[in-house]
Amino acid sequence: MEIKPLRIGNLLLPSNILMAPLAGYTCLPFRILVSELGAGLNFTEMASANSLKYHDLATRKLLLTDKRSGKVKAAQLLGGNPAIMETVACSKDMEKFDIIDINMGCPVPNVFKAGEGCAMMLDMPRASAVIRAVKKSGKVVTVKCRTGIKENDMFAAEFARMCEDAGADMITIHGRSRSMMYDGVPHYEEIAQAKAAVSIPVIANGGINSALDAKRVMEQTGADGVMFARYALENPFVIRDLTGTFYNKSLLEVMLEQLSLALEYYDETFALQYVRRIAANGMKKRRGTKKYKEGLYRAGSVAEIKELLCLIFGEGEP
Ligand SMILES: Cc1cc2nc3c(=O)[nH]c(=O)nc-3n(C[C@H](O)[C@H](O)[C@H](O)COP(=O)(O)O)c2cc1C
Repeated sequence: MEIKPLRIGNLLLPSNILMAPLAGYTCLPFRILVSELGAGLNFTEMASANSLKYHDLATRKLLLTDKRSGKVKAAQLLGGNPAIMETVACSKDMEKFDIIDINMGCPVPNVFKAGEGCAMMLDMPRASAVIRAVKKSGKVVTVKCRTGIKENDMFAAEFARMCEDAGADMITIHGRSRSMMYDGVPHYEEIAQAKAAVSIPVIANGGINSALDAKRVMEQTGADGVMFARYALENPFVIRDLTGTFYNKSLLEVMLEQLSLALEYYDETFALQYVRRIAANGMKKRRGTKKYKEGLYRAGSVAEIKELLCLIFGEGEP
C-alpha cells in the first residue's frame, strides 16, 4: 500500500488516509486533531439540507470550521431532493468548503423512510440528479455510500459508475450493506469491483481497525485510499503512524486539548457531552479504567471532567 497525496478533482490532499464523518464526534475539535495527525481529509458530520434550508442554528453549528482543521475542507450534506440540495450547495453555508460530500449511506430508519441517505441507492436516477444539482455549486463533489441495501444483492460497481457519470469526483464505499448496519465483515470484494469500474478515486471504508487493516484493505481492494471511522475514536494515533506525521502529544494531552477546543467553539453543555463521548471511546482499551466510566457520565463541570481525564489517561500508555 502506498501512503501518498491524493488528487480529487482539482484539489490535492496531503494523504490518502481519510477520516470519516461521524455524527456526534466529528465536530470541529476532532477534525482539528485528525488534521494535525496527518489525515488527508476530514468531513463535518452529516448536515441535513432541509434543516439548512430553514436556517436551523443547530445544523449550522455542525458546519463550524477553522483553518486548523485542514487546508481542504469538506462538508457532508444529507438530502434527497435535487432542488433543495442545489439551493444549499450554492448557499452561503457552503462558501467556506471546497468539497461537498453527499451522504448516500446512512441506514437509519427515519432517514431511509424520508428517501435520503442509503435510500438513494434504490433510486439511481434521483441520486444522479442530486449529484448533478450539487455540482452546480462549482465545488468538488464526492459521494459516500454502502455496497447496497441487502447483503445478498449488492451493486457497488453499478452505483459507482452512476456517480462518475453524474460528475462525482470521488466515491467512498462503506463495505457493508444497509441490512448489515455497522456490524459484520465488510465486503471488500464489492469495493474492488467498484474501483475497477470507474476512473475517479475510490476510498475504502468499514472495519478498518488497525494500521495493518488499512494496508490489507488497500491491497485487497486496489482503492486509492482508506477512511478510518470508529477505530480512530479509540486510537486516533493510527493516522499519525500511517502517515508518518510528527505529533508527540500524549492521549491525556489530546483529551485536555479536545476539552479546551470544545469550550472555545461551543457552549459548556456541548463541550462536556462531547468530551464524555470521546473519552469513553479513548479508554476502551485502557486497562483498569472501567471504574471511571460512570463518573465520566456523572461529571457535571469542567473541573470534574478534567480531573477524571487525568485519572483515566494519566497513568501511562496501555
Ligand atoms: C456514531 C456514528 C455516526 C456516524 N455518522 C455518520 C455521518 O454523519 N455520515 C456518514 O456518512 N457516515 C456516518 N457514519 C458511518 C461511518 O462514517 C462509517 O462509514 C462506518 O462507521 C463504517 O466504518 P467503521 O466500521 O470503520 O466504523 C457513522 C457511524 C457511526 C458509528
